[in-house]
Amino acid sequence: MILPWTSCSPTASVMAEERRIVGRRVIEMSVVGSTNDVASGLAFAGAEEGTVVVAEEQTAGRGRRGAKWISPPGVNLYVSVVLRPGAATRHAGGLAFVGAVAVAEFLRSEYALDARVKWPNDILCGGRKIAGVLVEAQATGAGIMETAILGVGLNVNWTEIAAEIRDEATSIAVELGRSVDRSSCLNGLLASLDEVYAEYLEHGLDPVLARWRKLDCTAGSRVLALCEDGASVAGTAVDITPYGALIVETAAGERRVLHAADVRITDMSF
Ligand code: BTN
Repeated sequence: MILPWTSCSPTASVMAEERRIVGRRVIEMSVVGSTNDVASGLAFAGAEEGTVVVAEEQTAGRGRRGAKWISPPGVNLYVSVVLRPGAATRHAGGLAFVGAVAVAEFLRSEYALDARVKWPNDILCGGRKIAGVLVEAQATGAGIMETAILGVGLNVNWTEIAAEIRDEATSIAVELGRSVDRSSCLNGLLASLDEVYAEYLEHGLDPVLARWRKLDCTAGSRVLALCEDGASVAGTAVDITPYGALIVETAAGERRVLHAADVRITDMSF
């Protein structure tokens, strides 16, 4: 299906004046390795903040911690946004919460889906992953984020989900039992990202984390966290810190603060 925002030209560009930042310029591509890489190249070349790269297909889509993001053509959204938050934040991790809140709130309001977030930035429906967020940042020597690329992969009309992830992934079409218009899905997603990012710039991470907590399915659950150093932590997720780190209480009553980990919910009840 050819969408209104799709072009045979690899660099069709659409201006959306009504948005404050995210999506003021949208660059549509057919096949790319990773939209995060394309956006990063554009950012390096001086692209303005809010520039969006969206592709029909990715041949090397990636997720957190080096995972592959399966990106078949013509069914999903693969979107990357150039952000320049500068001194507004020193924590790239905060932007991942911006992305997760924007996606989950959009899915709830537009499609009435019971979208929830799992720490730090997975978006789930019925316990299955429907979207993921990948933030890749470049900091200056002063530790201030020069540029951050916020990538979102959202499964939209994907009904023949790849066998390797069929048990843990879902899509809007699978959840609704019908396909949806990908063009309006993209527009709604960008509007939501724009709104949450504006709040983040204006008021900081606190209100974003407050919104995230309302969507959270991690706190109160039993979790198994695999940390970057190879260690694992089992316990009950308690809350997140003001910077978005996960607090897990072990069976021995010890509270561990996890800054980066893969978290599996082991007592998922929905
Ligand atoms: C995750 O859940 O691990 C994050 C997945 C992020 C996937 C998106 S698709 C658009 C952008 N380009 C990429 O290569 N990755 C992100």
